[in-house]
Amino acid sequence: MENKTHLVDEITGHRRMRRNRKADWTRRLVQENRLTVDDLIWPIFLIPGNGIIEPIPAMPGVNRMTVDKAVEAAKEAADLGIPALATFPNIEMELRDETGSNSLEKNNLINLASAAIKKAVPNIGVITDVALDPFTSHGHDGILRGNEIVNDETVEQVARAAVYQADAGADIIAPSEMMDGRIGAIRQALDAAGHQNVGIMSYATKFSSAFYGPYREAISTGGLLKGDKKTYYIDPANGTEAVRDAALDVEEGADMLMVKPGLPYLDICWRLKEAFGLPTFAYQVSGEYAMIKAAAANGWIDGERVMFETLLAFKRAGCDGILTYFAMDVARYLARK
Ligand code: PBG
Repeated sequence: MENKTHLVDEITGHRRMRRNRKADWTRRLVQENRLTVDDLIWPIFLIPGNGIIEPIPAMPGVNRMTVDKAVEAAKEAADLGIPALATFPNIEMELRDETGSNSLEKNNLINLASAAIKKAVPNIGVITDVALDPFTSHGHDGILRGNEIVNDETVEQVARAAVYQADAGADIIAPSEMMDGRIGAIRQALDAAGHQNVGIMSYATKFSSAFYGPYREAISTGGLLKGDKKTYYIDPANGTEAVRDAALDVEEGADMLMVKPGLPYLDICWRLKEAFGLPTFAYQVSGEYAMIKAAAANGWIDGERVMFETLLAFKRAGCDGILTYFAMDVARYLARK
Protein backbone atom coordinates (compact mmCIF):
# COMPACT_ATOMS: atom_id res chain seq x y z
CA MET A 1 0.00 0.00 0.00
CA GLU A 2 1.24 3.39 -0.97
CA ASN A 3 1.42 6.10 1.63
CA LYS A 4 -1.15 8.75 0.82
CA THR A 5 -0.40 12.35 1.52
CA HIS A 6 -3.14 14.67 2.46
CA LEU A 7 -2.02 17.19 -0.15
CA VAL A 8 -2.43 14.99 -3.24
CA ASP A 9 -5.67 13.52 -1.94
CA GLU A 10 -7.11 16.97 -1.62
CA ILE A 11 -6.25 17.81 -5.19
CA THR A 12 -7.26 14.55 -6.92
CA GLY A 13 -10.27 13.68 -4.79
CA HIS A 14 -11.34 10.24 -6.05
CA ARG A 15 -10.04 10.95 -9.57
CA ARG A 16 -6.97 8.84 -10.30
CA MET A 17 -6.06 8.31 -13.96
CA ARG A 18 -3.48 5.71 -13.03
CA ARG A 19 -6.10 3.14 -11.92
CA ASN A 20 -6.64 2.15 -15.57
CA ARG A 21 -2.92 1.99 -16.22
CA LYS A 22 -2.01 -0.19 -13.26
CA ALA A 23 -1.53 -3.54 -15.04
CA ASP A 24 -0.99 -4.98 -18.44
CA TRP A 25 -4.56 -6.32 -18.47
CA THR A 26 -6.15 -2.95 -17.64
CA ARG A 27 -4.03 -1.25 -20.25
CA ARG A 28 -5.10 -3.78 -22.88
CA LEU A 29 -8.71 -3.38 -21.81
CA VAL A 30 -8.78 0.40 -22.23
CA GLN A 31 -6.57 0.65 -25.33
CA GLU A 32 -8.40 2.86 -27.85
CA ASN A 33 -6.50 2.16 -31.05
CA ARG A 34 -4.80 -0.89 -32.46
CA LEU A 35 -2.54 -1.47 -35.40
CA THR A 36 -3.29 -4.58 -37.44
CA VAL A 37 -1.96 -6.02 -40.67
CA ASP A 38 -5.15 -4.78 -42.36
CA ASP A 39 -3.92 -1.20 -41.89
CA LEU A 40 -0.85 -1.62 -44.07
CA ILE A 41 -0.08 -0.66 -47.65
CA TRP A 42 3.43 -1.61 -48.76
CA PRO A 43 5.17 0.72 -51.28
CA ILE A 44 7.68 -1.13 -53.49
CA PHE A 45 10.22 0.03 -56.08
CA LEU A 46 10.55 -1.60 -59.50
CA ILE A 47 13.52 -1.88 -61.86
CA PRO A 48 13.78 -3.37 -65.34
CA GLY A 49 15.39 -6.78 -65.87
CA ASN A 50 15.18 -10.13 -64.21
CA GLY A 51 16.27 -11.68 -60.94
CA ILE A 52 17.64 -8.50 -59.39
CA ILE A 53 17.12 -7.11 -55.89
CA GLU A 54 19.20 -4.03 -55.15
CA PRO A 55 19.36 -2.08 -51.89
CA ILE A 56 18.60 1.66 -51.67
CA PRO A 57 21.36 3.23 -49.53
CA ALA A 58 19.23 6.01 -48.02
CA MET A 59 16.48 3.54 -47.10
CA PRO A 60 18.15 0.66 -45.23
CA GLY A 61 16.07 -2.50 -45.59
CA VAL A 62 14.24 -1.26 -48.72
CA ASN A 63 15.12 -2.64 -52.15
CA ARG A 64 14.42 -2.06 -55.80
CA MET A 65 13.18 -5.24 -57.48
CA THR A 66 12.67 -6.59 -60.95
CA VAL A 67 9.13 -7.70 -61.79
CA ASP A 68 9.77 -11.40 -61.08
CA LYS A 69 11.11 -10.53 -57.62
CA ALA A 70 8.22 -8.14 -57.04
CA VAL A 71 5.84 -11.03 -57.73
CA GLU A 72 7.62 -13.13 -55.08
CA ALA A 73 7.46 -10.21 -52.65
CA ALA A 74 3.75 -9.76 -53.39
CA LYS A 75 3.13 -13.43 -52.58
CA GLU A 76 4.96 -13.08 -49.31
CA ALA A 77 3.02 -9.90 -48.46
CA ALA A 78 -0.30 -11.57 -49.29
CA ASP A 79 0.58 -14.58 -47.14
CA LEU A 80 1.21 -12.23 -44.24
CA GLY A 81 -2.19 -10.62 -44.84
CA ILE A 82 -1.07 -7.25 -46.20
CA PRO A 83 -4.07 -5.92 -48.17
CA ALA A 84 -2.29 -3.88 -50.85
CA LEU A 85 0.93 -2.79 -52.54
CA ALA A 86 1.79 0.58 -54.07
CA THR A 87 4.27 0.35 -56.94
CA PHE A 88 6.86 2.92 -58.09
CA PRO A 89 9.05 2.36 -61.16
CA ASN A 90 12.69 3.33 -61.64
CA ILE A 91 12.90 3.24 -65.43
CA GLU A 92 15.93 3.52 -67.72
CA MET A 93 17.24 7.06 -68.22
CA GLU A 94 16.98 6.61 -72.03
CA LEU A 95 13.22 6.20 -71.67
CA ARG A 96 12.72 9.49 -69.81
CA ASP A 97 11.78 12.59 -71.79
CA GLU A 98 10.28 16.08 -71.48
CA THR A 99 6.68 14.86 -71.47
CA GLY A 100 7.08 11.52 -69.71
CA SER A 101 5.82 9.68 -72.77
CA ASN A 102 6.71 6.25 -71.37
CA SER A 103 3.77 6.67 -68.99
CA LEU A 104 1.59 6.05 -72.05
CA GLU A 105 3.32 2.79 -73.02
CA LYS A 106 0.92 -0.07 -72.48
CA ASN A 107 3.75 -2.39 -71.45
CA ASN A 108 5.88 -0.04 -69.41
CA LEU A 109 7.51 -1.22 -66.20
CA ILE A 110 4.68 -0.31 -63.85
CA ASN A 111 2.05 -1.95 -66.07
CA LEU A 112 4.10 -5.13 -66.56
CA ALA A 113 4.42 -5.37 -62.80
CA SER A 114 0.67 -4.88 -62.21
CA ALA A 115 -0.19 -7.57 -64.75
CA ALA A 116 2.34 -10.05 -63.35
CA ILE A 117 1.36 -9.43 -59.72
CA LYS A 118 -2.39 -9.66 -60.37
CA LYS A 119 -1.90 -12.88 -62.34
CA ALA A 120 0.18 -14.60 -59.65
CA VAL A 121 -1.37 -13.04 -56.54
CA PRO A 122 -4.92 -12.02 -57.47
CA ASN A 123 -6.00 -11.27 -53.91
CA ILE A 124 -3.54 -8.52 -53.12
CA GLY A 125 -4.59 -5.00 -54.12
CA VAL A 126 -2.36 -3.10 -56.54
CA ILE A 127 -2.26 0.68 -56.22
CA THR A 128 -0.48 2.65 -58.92
CA ASP A 129 0.64 6.28 -59.06
CA VAL A 130 0.05 8.21 -62.29
CA ALA A 131 2.37 11.13 -61.61
CA LEU A 132 4.86 11.64 -64.43
CA ASP A 133 8.04 12.07 -62.35
CA PRO A 134 9.41 8.54 -62.92
CA PHE A 135 9.07 9.15 -66.67
CA THR A 136 10.29 12.72 -67.17
CA SER A 137 13.84 13.81 -67.91
CA HIS A 138 13.42 16.77 -65.51
CA GLY A 139 11.95 14.86 -62.55
CA HIS A 140 8.77 16.93 -62.38
CA ASP A 141 5.37 15.30 -61.93
CA GLY A 142 3.92 16.97 -65.02
CA ILE A 143 4.73 18.16 -68.51
CA LEU A 144 7.25 21.00 -68.57
CA ARG A 145 6.69 23.73 -71.20
CA GLY A 146 9.22 26.53 -70.88
CA ASN A 147 9.34 27.14 -67.16
CA GLU A 148 5.86 25.90 -66.41
CA ILE A 149 4.41 22.57 -65.39
CA VAL A 150 1.32 22.80 -67.55
CA ASN A 151 -1.84 21.71 -65.80
CA ASP A 152 -4.47 20.71 -68.32
CA GLU A 153 -2.18 18.90 -70.73
CA THR A 154 -0.74 16.94 -67.80
CA VAL A 155 -4.24 16.05 -66.59
CA GLU A 156 -5.13 14.66 -70.01
CA GLN A 157 -2.01 12.55 -70.05
CA VAL A 158 -2.36 11.17 -66.54
CA ALA A 159 -5.99 10.28 -67.26
CA ARG A 160 -4.88 8.30 -70.31
CA ALA A 161 -2.07 6.68 -68.34
CA ALA A 162 -4.59 5.74 -65.64
CA VAL A 163 -6.63 3.79 -68.20
CA TYR A 164 -3.54 1.80 -69.28
CA GLN A 165 -2.77 1.14 -65.63
CA ALA A 166 -6.31 -0.12 -65.05
CA ASP A 167 -6.12 -2.22 -68.24
CA ALA A 168 -2.97 -3.82 -66.83
CA GLY A 169 -4.76 -4.75 -63.61
CA ALA A 170 -4.31 -1.87 -61.18
CA ASP A 171 -7.15 -1.90 -58.64
CA ILE A 172 -6.75 1.65 -57.40
CA ILE A 173 -5.30 4.63 -59.23
CA ALA A 174 -3.46 6.99 -56.91
CA PRO A 175 -2.57 10.28 -58.59
CA SER A 176 0.16 12.15 -56.72
CA GLU A 177 0.94 15.00 -59.11
CA MET A 178 -1.48 17.55 -57.59
CA MET A 179 -2.72 19.01 -60.89
CA ASP A 180 -6.12 20.72 -60.67
CA GLY A 181 -9.04 18.68 -61.97
CA ARG A 182 -7.19 15.39 -62.16
CA ILE A 183 -9.58 13.31 -60.04
CA GLY A 184 -12.60 14.16 -62.17
CA ALA A 185 -10.69 13.60 -65.41
CA ILE A 186 -9.35 10.22 -64.25
CA ARG A 187 -12.81 9.13 -63.08
CA GLN A 188 -14.31 10.04 -66.46
CA ALA A 189 -11.56 8.30 -68.40
CA LEU A 190 -11.79 5.14 -66.29
CA ASP A 191 -15.57 4.99 -66.62
CA ALA A 192 -15.44 5.58 -70.37
CA ALA A 193 -13.06 2.63 -70.65
CA GLY A 194 -15.32 0.35 -68.61
CA HIS A 195 -13.29 0.54 -65.41
CA GLN A 196 -16.14 1.48 -63.08
CA ASN A 197 -14.73 -0.76 -60.37
CA VAL A 198 -11.27 0.76 -60.36
CA GLY A 199 -11.04 3.16 -57.43
CA ILE A 200 -9.20 6.42 -56.93
CA MET A 201 -7.10 7.14 -53.88
CA SER A 202 -6.29 10.80 -54.10
CA TYR A 203 -2.96 12.07 -52.83
CA ALA A 204 -5.31 14.83 -51.73
CA THR A 205 -2.95 16.80 -49.62
CA LYS A 206 0.57 16.42 -50.82
CA PHE A 207 2.88 18.94 -49.27
CA SER A 208 5.97 20.51 -50.77
CA SER A 209 8.21 18.61 -48.38
CA ALA A 210 11.87 17.88 -47.80
CA PHE A 211 10.92 14.44 -46.50
CA TYR A 212 10.83 12.93 -50.03
CA GLY A 213 14.63 12.96 -50.43
CA PRO A 214 15.36 9.22 -50.22
CA TYR A 215 12.46 8.37 -52.56
CA ARG A 216 14.03 10.53 -55.24
CA GLU A 217 17.19 8.47 -54.86
CA ALA A 218 15.09 5.29 -55.06
CA ILE A 219 13.63 6.18 -58.47
CA SER A 220 16.69 8.19 -59.59
CA THR A 221 14.97 11.55 -60.01
CA GLY A 222 16.94 13.42 -57.36
CA GLY A 223 19.72 14.52 -59.68
CA LEU A 224 17.30 15.38 -62.47
CA LEU A 225 14.92 17.70 -60.68
CA LYS A 226 15.21 21.30 -61.81
CA GLY A 227 13.86 23.75 -59.28
CA ASP A 228 11.23 22.54 -56.86
CA LYS A 229 7.59 21.44 -56.83
CA LYS A 230 6.15 24.47 -55.06
CA THR A 231 3.87 25.48 -57.93
CA TYR A 232 1.85 22.30 -57.53
CA TYR A 233 2.38 20.80 -54.04
CA ILE A 234 0.88 22.48 -50.96
CA ASP A 235 2.86 24.87 -48.75
CA PRO A 236 3.61 23.07 -45.44
CA ALA A 237 2.33 26.21 -43.68
CA ASN A 238 -1.23 25.76 -44.97
CA GLY A 239 -3.84 23.55 -43.31
CA THR A 240 -7.08 25.17 -44.42
CA GLU A 241 -5.90 25.26 -48.03
CA ALA A 242 -5.20 21.52 -47.75
CA VAL A 243 -8.77 20.88 -46.59
CA ARG A 244 -10.14 22.94 -49.51
CA ASP A 245 -7.98 21.03 -51.99
CA ALA A 246 -9.22 17.71 -50.57
CA ALA A 247 -12.84 18.95 -50.82
CA LEU A 248 -12.41 19.37 -54.58
CA ASP A 249 -11.09 15.80 -54.88
CA VAL A 250 -14.07 14.49 -52.92
CA GLU A 251 -16.44 16.42 -55.19
CA GLU A 252 -14.68 15.08 -58.28
CA GLY A 253 -15.13 11.48 -57.14
CA ALA A 254 -12.20 10.36 -54.99
CA ASP A 255 -12.97 7.10 -53.14
CA MET A 256 -10.18 7.51 -50.61
CA LEU A 257 -7.94 10.33 -49.45
CA MET A 258 -4.28 10.37 -48.55
CA VAL A 259 -2.13 12.74 -46.55
CA LYS A 260 1.55 12.94 -47.42
CA PRO A 261 4.01 13.13 -45.67
CA GLY A 262 2.56 11.52 -42.56
CA LEU A 263 3.81 12.27 -39.09
CA PRO A 264 4.40 16.03 -39.47
CA TYR A 265 0.83 16.33 -40.83
CA LEU A 266 -1.31 14.46 -38.30
CA ASP A 267 -3.51 17.55 -37.91
CA ILE A 268 -4.40 17.26 -41.59
CA CYS A 269 -5.27 13.55 -41.20
CA TRP A 270 -7.64 14.47 -38.39
CA ARG A 271 -9.18 17.41 -40.26
CA LEU A 272 -9.83 15.40 -43.44
CA LYS A 273 -11.37 12.49 -41.57
CA GLU A 274 -13.61 14.89 -39.62
CA ALA A 275 -14.58 16.92 -42.67
CA PHE A 276 -15.30 14.15 -45.19
CA GLY A 277 -15.46 10.79 -43.43
CA LEU A 278 -13.84 9.09 -46.41
CA PRO A 279 -11.34 6.28 -45.89
CA THR A 280 -8.23 8.29 -45.08
CA PHE A 281 -4.63 7.16 -45.39
CA ALA A 282 -1.28 8.59 -44.41
CA TYR A 283 1.91 8.05 -46.37
CA GLN A 284 4.82 7.63 -43.96
CA VAL A 285 7.31 8.77 -46.56
CA SER A 286 10.90 7.87 -47.29
CA GLY A 287 12.46 10.62 -45.15
CA GLU A 288 10.38 9.63 -42.13
CA TYR A 289 11.49 6.02 -42.60
CA ALA A 290 15.13 7.01 -43.09
CA MET A 291 15.20 9.13 -39.93
CA ILE A 292 13.90 6.28 -37.79
CA LYS A 293 16.33 3.80 -39.38
CA ALA A 294 19.31 6.13 -38.99
CA ALA A 295 18.64 6.93 -35.34
CA ALA A 296 18.03 3.26 -34.57
CA ALA A 297 21.25 2.24 -36.34
CA ASN A 298 23.13 4.66 -34.10
CA GLY A 299 21.52 3.20 -31.00
CA TRP A 300 19.85 6.54 -30.26
CA ILE A 301 16.28 5.18 -30.29
CA ASP A 302 14.63 1.78 -30.12
CA GLY A 303 13.71 1.50 -33.81
CA GLU A 304 11.03 -1.14 -33.38
CA ARG A 305 9.18 0.73 -30.66
CA VAL A 306 9.38 4.03 -32.54
CA MET A 307 8.06 2.29 -35.67
CA PHE A 308 4.99 1.00 -33.80
CA GLU A 309 4.46 4.28 -31.98
CA THR A 310 4.45 6.32 -35.20
CA LEU A 311 2.08 3.90 -36.94
CA LEU A 312 -0.30 3.89 -33.98
CA ALA A 313 -0.23 7.70 -33.99
CA PHE A 314 -1.74 7.61 -37.50
CA LYS A 315 -4.58 5.43 -36.24
CA ARG A 316 -5.19 7.79 -33.32
CA ALA A 317 -5.26 10.71 -35.77
CA GLY A 318 -8.16 9.07 -37.62
CA CYS A 319 -6.37 7.20 -40.41
CA ASP A 320 -7.79 3.96 -41.74
CA GLY A 321 -4.41 2.79 -42.92
CA ILE A 322 -0.82 3.73 -43.63
CA LEU A 323 1.47 3.46 -46.63
CA THR A 324 4.73 2.50 -44.96
CA TYR A 325 8.09 0.99 -45.87
CA PHE A 326 7.84 -0.81 -42.52
CA ALA A 327 4.82 -2.82 -43.74
CA MET A 328 6.62 -6.17 -44.02
CA ASP A 329 8.48 -5.74 -40.72
CA VAL A 330 5.22 -4.94 -38.95
CA ALA A 331 3.34 -7.79 -40.64
CA ARG A 332 6.04 -10.29 -39.68
CA TYR A 333 6.10 -9.02 -36.12
CA LEU A 334 2.30 -9.25 -35.80
CA ALA A 335 2.33 -12.75 -37.32
CA ARG A 336 4.83 -13.94 -34.67
CA LYS A 337 2.75 -12.59 -31.80
C1 PBG B 1 6.05 12.01 -56.80
C2 PBG B 1 6.16 11.13 -55.62
C3 PBG B 1 6.82 11.47 -54.45
C4 PBG B 1 6.77 10.35 -53.61
C5 PBG B 1 6.01 9.37 -54.26
N1 PBG B 1 5.63 9.88 -55.52
C6 PBG B 1 7.44 12.72 -54.01
C7 PBG B 1 8.35 13.45 -54.89
O1 PBG B 1 9.43 12.98 -55.20
O2 PBG B 1 8.01 14.55 -55.25
C8 PBG B 1 7.42 10.30 -52.28
C9 PBG B 1 7.38 9.03 -51.55
C10 PBG B 1 8.34 8.97 -50.43
O3 PBG B 1 9.09 9.92 -50.15
O4 PBG B 1 8.36 7.92 -49.78
N2 PBG B 1 4.97 11.86 -57.59
